[in-house]
Amino acid sequence: MVKVIPIFFYFISLGSGSLLKCSGLKSEEYLHADKILIVYLSRTNNTKAVAEIIHKNTGGDLVALELATPYPENYRATVQQVVEENESGYLPPLKTKIDDIQRYDIVFVGFPTWGMKLPPPMKTFLKQYNLSGKKVIPFNTNGGYGIGTSFQTVKELCPASEIPEGFSMKGGEEVYGKLLVIKDDKAVEAEAEVVSWLKKIKILK
Ligand SMILES: Cc1cc2nc3c(=O)[nH]c(=O)nc-3n(C[C@H](O)[C@H](O)[C@H](O)COP(=O)(O)O)c2cc1C
Repeated sequence: MVKVIPIFFYFISLGSGSLLKCSGLKSEEYLHADKILIVYLSRTNNTKAVAEIIHKNTGGDLVALELATPYPENYRATVQQVVEENESGYLPPLKTKIDDIQRYDIVFVGFPTWGMKLPPPMKTFLKQYNLSGKKVIPFNTNGGYGIGTSFQTVKELCPASEIPEGFSMKGGEEVYGKLLVIKDDKAVEAEAEVVSWLKKIKILK
């Protein structure tokens, strides 16, 4: 009996140790898919491709920003309209409505660079919804000239949000007729880059 008791306690402590480890792992998990919203604006589907990669790896709700009045099909007319909207500060109304945005803790916001700026519809979104206290995580595709002032504008429009490092990659060049390029091999490369960024900002382990 004297020998049995220590052995008995040994197994009890082993068991409780592994239980603690399990519960420890749970509390350290970064992902809470029901708290994640991924909102994106995309005209030629490059930003949509990145949004879908994020969604595949994080779960959550994926929402395309749609306008009450869509932009023209014509590229040059769209560029001109965006210039005028930026000059006048016009915020194009959205058709997309998000119910109960307060249930999300993490809001990814994806957009192309337009005129080296944040596209007006994304400004509408950030002004229309109160994202205070949330993580607002920007991601972007562009025609090769980078993010311009877009990430800075996200910060300015969300002064009470935490803004982790954003993600950006080259997408299409509509001006040269190059529309969706983040597909096939490029989509595989994009996924590796996105996953490594999500780990860096501690959204994924
Ligand atoms: C109106 C408009 C303005 C743009 N302005 C820029 C720009 O200033 N710099 C840039 O690098 N690309 C610019 N682009 C190219 C887009 O950022 C690029 O093609 C992006 O990948 C498009 O994303 P999407 O396929 O999700 O719409 C512009 C495209 C449009 C339609």
